[in-house]
Amino acid sequence: MEKMHFQNFFKCMILVLFLLLLSTEYCNAVRGLSKRGHGKGKWQLLLKNAGVVAMHMALTHYDTVVILDQMESGQSAYRLSHRLNGTRCGNTHVDQDDRSCYAHSVEYDILSNKIRPLVSLETDTWCSSGSILSDGTIIQAGGNGDGSRRIRQFKPCDNGKCDWKQMNSSLSDMRWYASSLLLPENDQIIVVGGRRTFTFEFVPKLHSRGKSFDLPFLHRTYDKNGGGNNLYPILHLSSDGNVFIFANRDSILFNYKRKKVVKTFPRIPVDGSRSYPSTGSSVILPLDHKNGFHKVEVLICGGAVQGAYAAASEKGKFLKGLRSCGRMVITGNRHKWKMENMPGPRLMSDMLILPNGHILIINGAKRGCAGWDNAASPALQPYLYKPKKSLGRRFTVLRATKIARMYHSSAILLPDGRVLVAGSNPNRRYEFKNVKYPTELRLQAFVPDHLDRKFDHLRPHNVTIYTSSGKENVGYGGEFGVNFLLRRKLNSKNVGFNVYAPPFTTHSLSMNQRMLRLRCKKMAKEENGWVKAVVEAPPSANVAPAGYYLLTVVNGGIPGRSQWIKFMHK
Ligand SMILES: *[C@@H]1O[C@H](CO)[C@@H](O)[C@H](O)[C@H]1NC(C)=O
Ligand SMILES: *[C@@H]1O[C@H](CO)[C@@H](O)[C@H](O)[C@H]1NC(C)=O
Ligand SMILES: *[C@@H]1O[C@H](CO)[C@@H](O)[C@H](O)[C@H]1NC(C)=O
Repeated sequence: MEKMHFQNFFKCMILVLFLLLLSTEYCNAVRGLSKRGHGKGKWQLLLKNAGVVAMHMALTHYDTVVILDQMESGQSAYRLSHRLNGTRCGNTHVDQDDRSCYAHSVEYDILSNKIRPLVSLETDTWCSSGSILSDGTIIQAGGNGDGSRRIRQFKPCDNGKCDWKQMNSSLSDMRWYASSLLLPENDQIIVVGGRRTFTFEFVPKLHSRGKSFDLPFLHRTYDKNGGGNNLYPILHLSSDGNVFIFANRDSILFNYKRKKVVKTFPRIPVDGSRSYPSTGSSVILPLDHKNGFHKVEVLICGGAVQGAYAAASEKGKFLKGLRSCGRMVITGNRHKWKMENMPGPRLMSDMLILPNGHILIINGAKRGCAGWDNAASPALQPYLYKPKKSLGRRFTVLRATKIARMYHSSAILLPDGRVLVAGSNPNRRYEFKNVKYPTELRLQAFVPDHLDRKFDHLRPHNVTIYTSSGKENVGYGGEFGVNFLLRRKLNSKNVGFNVYAPPFTTHSLSMNQRMLRLRCKKMAKEENGWVKAVVEAPPSANVAPAGYYLLTVVNGGIPGRSQWIKFMHK
C-alpha cells in the first residue's frame, strides 16, 4: 500500500517536471530566443566539395548559382578529362599542372544540390567584377594577366548546356580589383577603378571610339602604403540616376553622363579604411515607395585600421578590424555620417539584404586585412542588423559556424530565403594541409530563424504573380497581381511586397544589390484563404534598372518563398 502510494507520487512528479520542461520549451519557441540559441538561425552543410573556390558568385533566374574562381591557382579540385581545345588531359606532370585541365567555374543547381563544371574560360578571371543584364546574362569584366581586359558573358539556361563565352570586344583599361554597376539606360554597365587604373569606362561601348575616362577621385583616395585602400570601390545607383562612389574613406555622387562630380560627401569618421584591402562592406537600405523611392541611405560596416596592410604583409601582425558602421542619406541636401558599433570588429564580410529588409553581415575576419595570409581570427558569427530599430538596438549576434570564411569567400541570397556560403582561400594555390587557413570547398547554407517552421502560420504560402502580359514582365509604373495563401487573419498593414535585385558578389561587395518596398494598391482575403493583391511596379529604371528581381511577400516580418519578376521599359 505504502509502496503504491510512493510510486504514484513519483509518477506524478515526473509528469510535472515533464510539463514544466515542455512549457519553457514552448515559451522559448514563442519568444524565439533562449540561451540555447533559439532564434539565431542554423547552418546546413550542402556539399563537401564544390570543386572551385567561390571567389565570385551570382544567382541566375533559373535558380542556379554561378561560382567563379581565378585560373592563376592552376589546379582546382575539379579535374577535367579534356581541355577546351579537345585534347585529352593525361597524367603527365605537365598536364597535372596545366590550368586548362581543371574547371575554374561551376554552376550550382539549388534544387538538386549538384554542381556541373563550366569549362570554357580562356583567360584569368582573378579579382574581377560583374553585373547582370536585363535578360539575365551575367557580364563579367576584367581579371588579371591575360584576362585583365577581357569581358565574358554567361547566358543562363535551363538545359545545363550554357557556359562562359569570351566576348570579342575588350575593355580599354586593365581591370583587376575593379567594380561594376548596371546603369538605367541601354543595358549598359559602368566599370570603375582597378589596380593602377584610375579611370572608368562603359560596357558595351555605345560609340566605336569607346575609351576610358580619368576619375581624379581615385587618385585622391589612393593610399600607396596601405596597399591601395581604394580598390573595389563601392558603387550604388541612387534613385536620382547618379552613381554613389565610395573609396577608402571618401565618397562622391557622380553624374556619369556628364562625367561630373555632383556632390562630395563628408569623410566617414574613424581612423581606418573601408575599401580593399581594408575591405568593409556596404548596402543601400531598402528603398521605399512611401517616399517615392526618393530617400537613399547608404550603410557601410567594418574595415581595417590605418597601417593594417603594412602590419600584416610585412610583420605578420594582424591588427584588430573596425567595429564601426556609418549610415548616411545621399539624397536631399543634408549629409552626415551617423556612426554606430557592431557587436565586434570585422572585415571581409558579406552584407546581404534579407527578404524582410533586415541586413545580414556574414563571413570575414576580426583582424588583419584582405590579401594572401593577411588576416586572422575568422568572424564565425553572423550579425543581423535591423535598420528600423532605434540606435543601440539594431544588432543581434547569430549562430556561429565552425568553418572559417576568410579571403576569397562569398555569400549570396537564394530564392528560398537561405544564404549560400562558399569559398575561402587565403593561399595562392589550393592548399589543404600545413596552412593556418586551408582552401575551403565546402558549400553551406545559413538558414535565418524567420524560415523556421514555428513561423509557418504567419508565412505567405503559394505566392503566385499575375501580369497582364501573361509572362513575368511588368513595365515601369505598371501593376501586377500577387496571390498567396495566408492561414491567419489578414492584417494588410503587416504585409509588404519587397523586390530584390540579385547581386554579383566578390570581395565583400555585392554589386548591384538593392531592395525596393513596393506599393500595394489593393488587398483582400477571400473565404478560401487566398489573398489577392494588386501591386505597383517601380516607377523608373533609375529606381530599378531593367531585369530580373525576386519578389517576396512578407507578413509581420516573416517572408514567403521569393518568385521571379522582370521589370522593363514598356
Ligand atoms: C591545346 O591546349 C594545350 C594547352 O594549352 C596546348 O598545349 C595544345 O597545343 C593545344 N592543342 C591544340 C590541338 O590546339
Ligand atoms: C566573335 O567573333 C567571331 C567571328 O567573327 C564570332 O564567330 C563569335 O560568335 C563572336 N563571339 C561573340 C561572343 O560575339
Ligand atoms: C500550395 O503549394 C503546395 C506546394 O507546392 C501544393 O502542394 C498545394 O496544392 C498548393 N495549394 C493550393 C491551394 O494551390
